[in-house]
Amino acid sequence: MGVMIKSLALATVLLVVAFVPSPASAIAGTATFYTTYVPSACYGNQNKGDMIVGVSDKLWNNGRACGRRYRVRCVGPANLVRNACKTTTAAIIVTVVDYCKACTGDLNLSRGAFSRIANPDAGKVRVAYDPI
Ligand SMILES: *[C@@H]1O[C@H](CO)[C@@H](O)[C@H](O)[C@H]1NC(C)=O
Repeated sequence: MGVMIKSLALATVLLVVAFVPSPASAIAGTATFYTTYVPSACYGNQNKGDMIVGVSDKLWNNGRACGRRYRVRCVGPANLVRNACKTTTAAIIVTVVDYCKACTGDLNLSRGAFSRIANPDAGKVRVAYDPI
């Protein structure tokens, strides 16, 4: 192969990679937020910072979810509050630190994590998330 063809082939590969959409495995759900992070079901009184999430039975897996990380993106409103998502392209990465009994499938994000991608006034938004 000539150098020209080789670099064309490489450029094509790079283009294809760059346009691969977010993983098809992303799970659709909703997210809320909470504000008292310690103690947590996973780490007791250890403070794990702000990029954290509490999960329901669906993900909790009897505590094996502790420490697992998820990429979370806001995809749209879950109620009538306008501009619920601050961004639908940028994602946050959060670590599971807590169990959320009342969540029934929702992610319970820290207020800090929630407010990076969504408007806290909305209280709840639709999200897409996947384990990383
Ligand atoms: C989120 O977690 C807090 C603290 O554990 C809890 O009070 C709240 O009910 C949870 N949110 C939802 C939607 O269950």
